[in-house]
Amino acid sequence: MCDPSSEEAREQLVVESLLKLSGKHSVTHHEHLQPVVMQNVEFPTFPVRGPTDRLCYVIQRYDDVPWSTGTSASRRKAMDAVMPPVSSMTFTLNNGNKLPAVGLGTYRVRQPDVIMQTVDEALAAGYRLFDTAAVYGNEGALGDAFRKLLPKYNLEREDIFITTKLSPSEHGNSAVIKQAYQKSLHNLGVDYIDLFLIHFPGAARLPSGDLRNAKLRASTWRGMVDLYDEGCVNSIGVSNFTLKHLKELNMRATGVYPVVNQVEWHPYYYQEDLRAYCMKNEICLQAYCSFGGTSHQDTTLLKDPVVKGIAERHEATPAQVLLAWALQQDVAVIPKSVDPARIRENITIEFRLTEHEIKALNNLGNKKKKYAWDPTSVR
Ligand SMILES: NC(=O)c1ccc[n+]([C@@H]2O[C@H](COP(=O)([O-])OP(=O)(O)OC[C@H]3O[C@@H](n4cnc5c(N)ncnc54)[C@H](OP(=O)(O)O)[C@@H]3O)[C@@H](O)[C@H]2O)c1
Repeated sequence: MCDPSSEEAREQLVVESLLKLSGKHSVTHHEHLQPVVMQNVEFPTFPVRGPTDRLCYVIQRYDDVPWSTGTSASRRKAMDAVMPPVSSMTFTLNNGNKLPAVGLGTYRVRQPDVIMQTVDEALAAGYRLFDTAAVYGNEGALGDAFRKLLPKYNLEREDIFITTKLSPSEHGNSAVIKQAYQKSLHNLGVDYIDLFLIHFPGAARLPSGDLRNAKLRASTWRGMVDLYDEGCVNSIGVSNFTLKHLKELNMRATGVYPVVNQVEWHPYYYQEDLRAYCMKNEICLQAYCSFGGTSHQDTTLLKDPVVKGIAERHEATPAQVLLAWALQQDVAVIPKSVDPARIRENITIEFRLTEHEIKALNNLGNKKKKYAWDPTSVR
């Protein structure tokens, strides 16, 4: 009989809890656990190869409990080895739909031949979510790429997740929103969108300080809800909404919460209060500009000594560390790349950051360095 306060006994306890969650009584060699859902993150069926792996699996799921903090180097290595593939990791949205945790960003990717090659590489690497917007001007080329390439990978429309966004010039009433949605459907050549987002809280034709923004935004959200209620779109959400915009939306509108808030989110710019509010209200955060964006050719974040140091410890790249930092905090990511090796790199994250490393990255947040447009002044 082992000492109940020993690490072995505590591990056994966690193993048992996990087994209970998975509906099994025991785990044998090469057996598979059922998907386990915790904190809205669902991990896929996962092979258990024996006590060490089983232990490591349990540890990684219970990473935050104090007893796992003294993890030895060898166990850490084993933990790294059993990270479930992020390509099949999903977040469960507040309406029950599943959001792939890693998707491909497509901002500034417009040339049809580049899109064709990029989508080809992405599908091969395991990406199933593609993020576009009416204003990116690439919905048509993406639609062409999906039609041509899905059969190559034995995939159907339902196997991929398309996000597109309402242009800031299309805020308005239900009829305006519906028309904009139809335009995106037509461009993409599909009969539904998985996730339709209000791209920005402010309307293109109004200065950000204009009070009419709030009124227009409420009407736009009403139009989004109408689309959803009519079954035209699988999920609706928002993008670039601050805490103020979210709170107003929920007060004024329909009782339907956005499933996602897509925002600029990286260690130089994130807002803990926004994350807490979103978690409380089951709004999934989705990060953009994980590497600092495309606009400024600014690689400071990827070259940050803290990020680089952590990357070296895990024998990973700075980009992978930045994505792991978001994912481990239940924030979905949509890195953009047109480079085949980077496309693969960004969806191959086979390590977990320690709590200590996450804190070190969080501490960079006091830089408050923003790369993309700023919604904070939008009334
Ligand atoms: N809702 C919004 O308002 C909003 C705003 C901005 C972006 N977004 C969405 O979020 C997506 C991502 O944001 P983003 O495109 O601005 O920027 P990002 O993903 O932070 O960065 C993309 C840049 O990093 C490079 N890169 C990609 N993988 C890399 C790697 N492994 N190592 C080093 N560099 C790497 C890319 O170059 P290569 O292509 O040459 O690899 C590109 O220049 C967008 O594409 C878009 O879909 C939404």
